Amino acid sequence: MQVTISSGNNINGTLVLPLFQGEESLPEVDEGIPSSLKIQIERVLQDGDFKAKANAVLTLMGTDGGKALLIGLGKEDKADIHTYREAGATVVASLKKVHGNELTVLFHGSDLASMASFAEGMMLRDYSYDLYKMKKEDDDKNDLAARINCSEGDATELSGLIDRAASIVSGVHLSRDLGNCPPNDMYPMAFAEKAEQWAKDYDNVKVEVIDYEAAKRHGMGGLVAVGMGSSRKPCMVIFTLNGDLKGQHPVLVGKGITFDTGGISLKPGANMDEMKYDMGGSATVFGTMQALASSGYAGKVVGITCMAENMPAANAQRPGDVITTLSGKTIEVLNTDAEGRLVLSDGLWKAGTDFDPEYIVDFATLTGACVVALGHEATGLWSNDDDFRTRIHDAGNDVGELAWPMPLLPAFEKEMTDSKIADTRNLGAGRWGGANTAAAFLKQFVPNRGEGDDAEQITWAHMDIAGTYWGAKTNKMVGHGATGIHVRTMVRLITGE
Ligand code: BES
Ligand code: ZN
Ligand code: ZN
Repeated sequence: MQVTISSGNNINGTLVLPLFQGEESLPEVDEGIPSSLKIQIERVLQDGDFKAKANAVLTLMGTDGGKALLIGLGKEDKADIHTYREAGATVVASLKKVHGNELTVLFHGSDLASMASFAEGMMLRDYSYDLYKMKKEDDDKNDLAARINCSEGDATELSGLIDRAASIVSGVHLSRDLGNCPPNDMYPMAFAEKAEQWAKDYDNVKVEVIDYEAAKRHGMGGLVAVGMGSSRKPCMVIFTLNGDLKGQHPVLVGKGITFDTGGISLKPGANMDEMKYDMGGSATVFGTMQALASSGYAGKVVGITCMAENMPAANAQRPGDVITTLSGKTIEVLNTDAEGRLVLSDGLWKAGTDFDPEYIVDFATLTGACVVALGHEATGLWSNDDDFRTRIHDAGNDVGELAWPMPLLPAFEKEMTDSKIADTRNLGAGRWGGANTAAAFLKQFVPNRGEGDDAEQITWAHMDIAGTYWGAKTNKMVGHGATGIHVRTMVRLITGE
């Protein structure tokens, strides 16, 4: 969607009119609205036929003054940027053929941040994944153009805000494209090739691919064990933005299981197709790199994606195997379906030993238990640093992506380290607290900074997006499929904007 700013009063295409609850007449700033359309709007408002409750929509047509789409913002004193973002998304979700491809949005009394948020909602919701359809699903909505009318003095600032939002949205949509891609075309080296292709668009990014042979040489036992049973071999893809800069920087790590059958601990058949989304953590990392690069972020950021396909095969790992990870620590693999933590063990260790992280954040569709705990409404959030966890929680709240604090308890760590024959085990003693035991397991692979008495574990957070990366029906920014969640949270956390 192309969003442009205009300081004129012209209305192109359908008029989009955001309104507050209780407005009984057309607001003052109505120049440019043809009188017959104006009369129609006035009538609807006066009669109380449109109450402007949040996300209510009403289409008006049939006069020679053109068409209008009224969108409710709810009560004025309650409306915040989330209200505006959702309203923008609702407009796009409600568009039908009759509205055409051109929209003009006319705000009254809204500040620039709210207007930009509305535009962001429109852009976020303007997404469909129809690469594999002969007839494109949203043919009618192709090439939507929205114009936002604003005062002349505000035009430059508003257009800056909207350009930045468009860059960030491109990262969210990239994450969604990667997640929605069918698993026959989305396999570890295909992801790596997409990353290499992407890097060609920017002078300040670098992509390094550690392929299967190199991963074996380096001792990435977790990544290798998970991926070796597939004919499409695993790899680690490392993204670097502004790599020439010195000093500490964020490192993001993603679980990238391009298909999770469970391996020899095979999953039941029902809904197994959804396990194509099991690379959502890596898609979040890639999407965040795109959002940052495209919006011109000048700091250094590294992304590490751990890519593998988890297949049952003659050469797959077995329950009972003991593997040696990059850290040197061993893992007794008691269930091959708890594979995400195995690939992440190498990714986290790499993050803390090859780089100088200000902090590490990992993203993973890690556990069904997290979906049991939080449903599709919030991501599970764990951290070894309470302040850092709060910062991520706040960043998520700022952009309308909930990440809920969960406990990292010593008892869970003990449960995951009491293997009789190895340093750790990849399965808890029972099924209770499965999302917490998984987080406690990951913590074993976050390196320390410094040595001896000065050693302190690197600041780290783990985000379990099993419930939020897809299937989140109440997420208004998304029609269906991959959600692209937390690209915006990370941009907020990293850039502070
Ligand atoms: N990819 C799954 C987690 C998952 C399940 C995500 C359902 C989204 C929806 C993960 O690899 C997995 O299978 N985890 C197991 C862990 C268990 C064997 C300890 C699980 O959650 O059942
Ligand atoms: Zn699994
Ligand atoms: Zn998995």
